[in-house]
Amino acid sequence: MALISVDKSLCMHCGVCAEECPAMLLVQSGNEVPEAIPSGEKLCIRCGHCVAACPHDALRLDDLPAYGWAEVSPDLEVSPEAAVQLLRGRRSVRVYQKRPVPRETLVQVLEVTRWAPTATNRQTVKWLVLEDSEKVRALAGKVVEGLRPNPYFARMVADWEAGCDRIFRGAPHLVVNYAPTQGFDPSADCTIALSYLDIAAHAHGLGTCWAGVLMAAIPTQPDIPAFLEIPEGHRICGAMMIGFPKHRYKRIPVRNPLTITWK
Ligand SMILES: Cc1cc2nc3c(=O)[nH]c(=O)nc-3n(C[C@H](O)[C@H](O)[C@H](O)COP(=O)(O)O)c2cc1C
Repeated sequence: MALISVDKSLCMHCGVCAEECPAMLLVQSGNEVPEAIPSGEKLCIRCGHCVAACPHDALRLDDLPAYGWAEVSPDLEVSPEAAVQLLRGRRSVRVYQKRPVPRETLVQVLEVTRWAPTATNRQTVKWLVLEDSEKVRALAGKVVEGLRPNPYFARMVADWEAGCDRIFRGAPHLVVNYAPTQGFDPSADCTIALSYLDIAAHAHGLGTCWAGVLMAAIPTQPDIPAFLEIPEGHRICGAMMIGFPKHRYKRIPVRNPLTITWK
């Protein structure tokens, strides 16, 4: 394989593919079609920018499928105002309806996380969905045991014992993500993917809340990964409650002013 295949009848020798390649693996000069440098195939991170940016649809990456490259639709462009409202308007939801979210909807909001950026385009983030609310509750019980030694969580533990779930807030589902322990900063990849999920869920009318308490409990309750059957060599990086929100937010809360240093 030569890394790329170029349709000579379509290539206009514009050099966009070579300019876009993050690792500078493509060479295009004069009236020549682009070609890969020696060992380009080994160094390519399969980000697909060369194919995605080609204005003439002249390029294929040999080991990525030729199908499934969605066209960017100008009709679906998000205005800056809509983007700002989406990003400022999402909230951490802590009061949920009991009804479950259909699995198709959960899949839809998870699907989009496949396009979250990952370091060197590794795409190693994996997901576990506790779809059954009883399983969410069982995990909450484990989390309580993990939080118990820490006085900071004393009220949360006492509330749990009094029948009030401030761990996962009675959410019908919990989404956990995990990644291979080896590799460059897997937790950054997972955190970004969770942020994608958060925003996508909000756009679908769902509510989410970061479940930092799960992460806080793991050091003192190290059997949680086994309880969740996380495979060997992987670690849990984050989790989020998800469900239909009981309330709507009419206003966007105020936040600290932006802190910027210009140099
Ligand atoms: C890493 C992280 C962990 C969090 N963990 C929890 C948590 O365990 N329980 C909870 O109720 N909220 C949790 N939150 C939600 C924050 O409290 C919330 O983002 C913050 O209060 C701002 O509210 P907003 O998200 O509605 O803007 C967490 C948020 C982040 C980013």
